[in-house]
Amino acid sequence: MNITVFDSRAALVDHAADLISEFVTTAPAAVLGLATGGTMMPIYENLIGRHNLGLVSFSRTSGFLLDEYVALPRSHSQTYRNVIHRLFERHVDVLPGSIIGPDGNASALAAECERYDRQVSEAGVGLQLLGIGRNGHIGFNEPGASPGSRTRVVTLAQATRDDNARFFTSPQQVPTQAITQGIGTIRAGKRLLIVAQGTHKAAAVRAAISGPITPALPASALQLHSNVTFLLDTKAASSIPPAAL
Ligand code: PGA
Repeated sequence: MNITVFDSRAALVDHAADLISEFVTTAPAAVLGLATGGTMMPIYENLIGRHNLGLVSFSRTSGFLLDEYVALPRSHSQTYRNVIHRLFERHVDVLPGSIIGPDGNASALAAECERYDRQVSEAGVGLQLLGIGRNGHIGFNEPGASPGSRTRVVTLAQATRDDNARFFTSPQQVPTQAITQGIGTIRAGKRLLIVAQGTHKAAAVRAAISGPITPALPASALQLHSNVTFLLDTKAASSIPPAAL
């Protein structure tokens, strides 16, 4: 595992954007695994800035979302399809139809999960962006998810619904279910880039990096992957045993 700790959030964001820009510039057809969530927003902003300066193009990039809420109306501002469009896609030169997510309003959800899993696997993600929940989730793989799990419908942990309530007008509006790529699906990505900031992530980061591999802490399954990079601020890194750094 490659772990880099940054004194400043700006430096962390800039480094993440460096890695992403380099990937989309050098890969002939870059398949990017896209995450949403508060941690990613400044990284997308940084990438948009670079694009506006002519420093990076996404015209050969396709993107696959990690997850999507179930049964949130398609027009709702918080569907991840709409979030990624608003915060990234509409500001850059990614070709229409190149950013794809699972359909949380499909009438046959299990079939949609299977279809999306196949689509992601066939495309082959080259660089997967990941946040981590304070309960150790990746995507919406909540505690209990197995390291080999595939794309499926999951029930959101209460901690996750509480954390995401800030994006909705009331906590009750946070959906109870989502489609998420499984941990096995995510682990098939060639390179995984995990970004975490803040003291509230420190325990999950420590367990992901140096704890046992266990479904109780889904991100611990990342230890099974051979090309994982953690980008952390000093707060998120504050509980990692020095020997693991
Ligand atoms: P956050 O979410 O970036 O909003 O903290 C990360 C996650 O839950 O994966």
